[in-house]
Amino acid sequence: MRNHPLKPFPKDFLWGASTSAYQVEGAWNEDGKGPSVMDVAKHPKEVTDFKVASDHYHRYKEDIALFAELGLKAYRFSISWSRIFPEGTGEVNQKGIDFYNNLINELKKHHIEPVVTMYHFDLPYALQKKGGWLNRETIEAYENYAKTLFENFGDRVKYWLTINEQNVMILFGELLGTVDRNAENPKKELYQQNHHMFVAQAKAMILCHRMLPDAKIGPAPNISAVYPISPQPEDVLAAHTFSSLRNWLYLDAAVFGRYNSTVWSYLEKKQAIPEIQDGDMAILKEAKPDFIAFNYYSTMTVGANLPQKVSNNVREDQQMAFEEPGFFKGHPNPNLPKTEYGWEIDPVGLRTTLREIYERYHLPLLITENGLGAQDRLEEGDVVNDDYRIDYLQKHIEQCRLALDDGVELIGYCPWSAIDLVSTHQGISKRYGFIYVNRDEFDLKDLRRIPKKSFYWYKKVIASNGEDLTNE
Ligand code: BG6
Repeated sequence: MRNHPLKPFPKDFLWGASTSAYQVEGAWNEDGKGPSVMDVAKHPKEVTDFKVASDHYHRYKEDIALFAELGLKAYRFSISWSRIFPEGTGEVNQKGIDFYNNLINELKKHHIEPVVTMYHFDLPYALQKKGGWLNRETIEAYENYAKTLFENFGDRVKYWLTINEQNVMILFGELLGTVDRNAENPKKELYQQNHHMFVAQAKAMILCHRMLPDAKIGPAPNISAVYPISPQPEDVLAAHTFSSLRNWLYLDAAVFGRYNSTVWSYLEKKQAIPEIQDGDMAILKEAKPDFIAFNYYSTMTVGANLPQKVSNNVREDQQMAFEEPGFFKGHPNPNLPKTEYGWEIDPVGLRTTLREIYERYHLPLLITENGLGAQDRLEEGDVVNDDYRIDYLQKHIEQCRLALDDGVELIGYCPWSAIDLVSTHQGISKRYGFIYVNRDEFDLKDLRRIPKKSFYWYKKVIASNGEDLTNE
């Protein structure tokens, strides 16, 4: 029995919702935008590409009016790098600047705080052709891009996120197309890319503090607590290794400016130590984030793995643990239900994850993604009864409150996604939004916007500052 009332959500808590540019905007080649790696990515034939997406580029005013009706205090979106720099570097595309100026002004008009991801998977294709993150010059291109964003939008944007899910790009590089599967040692290439992203991120944080002393900037990896499959010491050790590799490598570098020792030793064994130039580690040390943003969908469960076991190395999905001979092997967690896409649902795991991050780094935390992908059905009378989504979000918000009560400094919650958008690799049928977008994989229909049942529920949650989570 509890002998005290739970601490309330702070008064200025950032109740928000998230999207990313390539998944929501469309207009993939309009107004001078250059192609990004996502625009040229191959798609399975049964799912749509990102060319039109939710057509937010043309309908942002209507969308933001709905976000205002929902009561959002914050909107986390990403800026498309190749809309600002069609070639990744060089000439600025003024129309790209204009679009985000208009978007930010519209948000401000409705008193919605913009939370800007500077880079969400969509590297300009022109840079990819020159080697992408494997090429050290991409660090400079990113720093220059960051400077342009701070100069143009820094007077209105207070919260900046450097890179979305750098860990997912490295751990699932083959899935996201960030590495060539046939490279001689893909791991070596991936961890070299990773190092360049660390330096780029650090430079952006330093620059942000120099140019915008009142702004706040932080990383945005995908973090989840890792459970051992059993209390056997070998399984516990394997869970520790996996957590270092999946979680702590990224946050240790961003916050402490150093490589995680367990991961370093793993990289030595895999002949995947990155080349580090003189001065790189000093840059990492100098850079300090103001907060940690992270995306959370589920936890991972792993056990020990025999060294001789041949790994099939299949990495199905960013939310599923995988295997490494001699290190760890992912297992389903028999205690957890799953979404229709096979992702385990673990609200209590969010509380554990929040505690783990906070105890380790002692920085304010911002949840920038959390949500349920489902094949919603538009019913007669323009109704979407997504009670399963309400149930998911309600249970996760409950755990946020408990984590606050545990002493975690949580400053906001921005579920995925504000509006329906195209999933990273499973099309538009896998929906996450509070607002339904009327289109199918290949039939664009009228793209009309329809608030779902979860929209009205979240509106009530926000209006009551998280006190009323009931679904009535
Ligand atoms: C995160 C990404 O990994 O998960 C988003 O930051 C993504 O871009 C989200 O859409 C949900 O994943 P998916 O694969 O269902 O789109």
